[in-house]
Amino acid sequence: FDPTQPARRLLAWYGAAGRDLPWRRTRDPYRIWLSEVMLQQTTVEAVVPYYERFLQALPDVRRLAAASLDEVIALWAGLGYYSRARNLHAAARRVVAEHGGIFPADLDELLALPGIGRSTAGAILSIAFDRPAPILDGNVRRVLCRLFALEENPRAGAAEKQLWAWAAALTPADHPHDYAQAIMDLGATLCVPRRPDCPRCPLADLCRARALGLAEKLPLAAAK
Ligand code: ADE
Repeated sequence: FDPTQPARRLLAWYGAAGRDLPWRRTRDPYRIWLSEVMLQQTTVEAVVPYYERFLQALPDVRRLAAASLDEVIALWAGLGYYSRARNLHAAARRVVAEHGGIFPADLDELLALPGIGRSTAGAILSIAFDRPAPILDGNVRRVLCRLFALEENPRAGAAEKQLWAWAAALTPADHPHDYAQAIMDLGATLCVPRRPDCPRCPLADLCRARALGLAEKLPLAAAK
């Protein structure tokens, strides 16, 4: 298929069906970063109350940098994966010390901050700065495995490289802010792990897994 098709379909679908989530009412990089770190290993439903409480206590990066680690950990209590909270705190201190409290809009500078990997950096660049940057989180990985019918363990090195190349090829120059959230929403709401809702999917007729009857079987579970 034409590689610009999925983005066009996703943008139209997102305009009509995208979810209204608290971090979608801001372009503040601090807020976008916080939401992306919370969402790394936690569902949207669980994140929302923590996100709001955290921002009430620590509304900007300088307040986070000035807080004690104990306060940050207390705000995180219940979300799990506490290294995320420690990295968040350390990264805030570096944004203040090294970037004058302004989030860098640069891939390498974001990657240099603790707790920000390639996918989170892509999400921050796209969502906060409206710069086209690929994302490959769990939701996007599943969408791409199905769209291209990848019949390999998606975590294996060669497959991972292929998935990043597909993610980059599909990311449009126009509207990266909406596109990033559209493809993550598709994976979270329709292209879900079990029983994907293909009849409602805007990519259904482009989807190789669907054409092959493999949508429910992909992605393959990592071999143990
Ligand atoms: N998962 C990770 N980032 C997300 C976002 N911005 N919206 C919805 N789900 C997400």
